[in-house]
Amino acid sequence: MRRAICGAALALSVATAFAQQRSTYEEYQRMTAESAPIELYEMAGEELWKKPQGPKNVSLERCDLGMGPGVVKGAYARLPRYFSDADRVMDLETRLLHCMMTLQGRGRAEATKRVFGNADRSSEFELLSAYVAGQSNGMPMRPGTDHPREKAAFELGRKLFFHRAGAWDFSCASCHGEEGKRIRMSDLPVLYKAEYARPLMSTWPAYRVSTSSFITLQWRMNDCYRQMRMPEPGFGSDTTVALITFMTVTAEGATYRGPAIKR
Ligand code: HEC
Repeated sequence: MRRAICGAALALSVATAFAQQRSTYEEYQRMTAESAPIELYEMAGEELWKKPQGPKNVSLERCDLGMGPGVVKGAYARLPRYFSDADRVMDLETRLLHCMMTLQGRGRAEATKRVFGNADRSSEFELLSAYVAGQSNGMPMRPGTDHPREKAAFELGRKLFFHRAGAWDFSCASCHGEEGKRIRMSDLPVLYKAEYARPLMSTWPAYRVSTSSFITLQWRMNDCYRQMRMPEPGFGSDTTVALITFMTVTAEGATYRGPAIKR
């Protein structure tokens, strides 16, 4: 089905929005919001957070998400940010992987074997993201912007956002750079503008109604690169982190309202 959407997207290029469609979409969102099992993902994520795993057989409860070891409350609202122990900027999923490797002693290959799940079974990263992000609900989003590495990640993300590449010579801005663009039912938000980035970046990760599965920003980056006919970026790569940093900093100041519902 995703393929069909892409094909249509490319064939038809991108259609113009109609106010009528928008209100249908909003209605759809309201209806589905009530029945989505987001809390179940959060609960499963909390269980996983506390479950001893890996060669060291320890849980992630001492994982430092930026607010000190074990502090989950409010941590997501401050990501992405620079971590001196890893000497790089990390988003939530990248940091979770770091904790799996350092605290639990797991290898990268094993830990990232299944980073994106499906309707039947979510991945560890999806469940953990649901739990951690849920602990920032209602808090202002303040990703790191002061450290030179944070500034560099933002700049790299901005460059990547507008960089055209691949067989179709697409950049992110080809789809997300003009107001009123749509692919079928999907709005194509102008993600480099605060007014669009705020309401959307403040609702990730999310429950995706169309596939009945829980999705994360790392998944979104993968899927959009795929739509650009580009190779999939590495999970937690500097590329994905830079793009997520760019869009999150653009949305800075928004109140975090996730995990939420996406179409
Ligand atoms: C070929 C068109 C296309 C390109 C190019 C593209 N995207 Fe997307 N993007 C989409 C579609 C379609 C959606 C889904 C919208 C929906 O589900 O309603 C989307 C959704 C998103 C979202 C989620 C918005 C929300 O609902 O919260 C983000 C973030 C995003 N894209 C970022 C990017 C980035 C970063 C790039 C460049 C690496 C990119 N996109 C390139 C088509 C594209």
